[in-house]
Amino acid sequence: MIVTPLTGRFGAEVTDIDLSGMLTSEDLVAIEDAFVEHSVLCFRDQELTLEQFEDFARQLGDFGETPFITPMADHPAVLRLLREADEQGPLFGSGWHSDWSFQDQPPSATLLYGVDIPPAGGDTAFISQALAYETLSPVMRGIVDGLNGVHSARRSYGPRGTFGRHDPARSMEIHGDESALRSICHPMVRTHPISGRRSLFVNEVYTIGIEGMSDDESRALLDMLFAHSRRIDLSCRVRWQRGTLTMWDNRVTQHYAIDDYAGHRREMWRITLAGERPQ
Ligand code: SIN
Repeated sequence: MIVTPLTGRFGAEVTDIDLSGMLTSEDLVAIEDAFVEHSVLCFRDQELTLEQFEDFARQLGDFGETPFITPMADHPAVLRLLREADEQGPLFGSGWHSDWSFQDQPPSATLLYGVDIPPAGGDTAFISQALAYETLSPVMRGIVDGLNGVHSARRSYGPRGTFGRHDPARSMEIHGDESALRSICHPMVRTHPISGRRSLFVNEVYTIGIEGMSDDESRALLDMLFAHSRRIDLSCRVRWQRGTLTMWDNRVTQHYAIDDYAGHRREMWRITLAGERPQ
């Protein structure tokens, strides 16, 4: 397996490995080590059936829970992220977020497999939230260290959220409901359970406030942190090809699906792996 960094800071492309069969324990350790080191791994040229994609994910961990979206028939852990060429309306994933951060135990990782890819566009952009934390001043790190963020799915899947109402023109069956109004607090700075690295655990889509602060106070602090995370030197970007499988660590990254391929179809398969309560 050859691991080639995507940037000088995080993210890597992985070649010379075939994910279609059962992996050796050496391969699995190499993948897990590379994942901890790079946070985003982009495996190229994988020819996978849906079952092989699931089998690969299963070798890395248990599947996570997938709310609000109907999964693929007979594959309850797999979502088809589909946008037809003529489809309009908000694009799933097109906002900075860490997957399902509103869950009690948000997914550790997400695996996304490219099935049908536009000739150009439809890239996924990533931010290292570990770098975002490390590049704050010591004073600001001291402030955020002791705070809890309030996370909720309400803006996306609540009755008045972006995907709150059924849209018959949408390829993906997204069904928001009242359960999205629930909120949960997580530490704004979490520690990676394997590397011990600390990272900023807030995101624009699901973090709606800061525990114990007024709306104005939390808005001001969160807006500053969100703007800080958007720094280009904290980012990397994956350009998809058919057969690319990218996995990212939701504990130390955020991502953004770029909506720039109108007139072209994009189909991906997606699995999340179960995570732990952020600490
Ligand atoms: C996601 O947010 O999980 C989707 C990312 C993408 O479609 O590029």
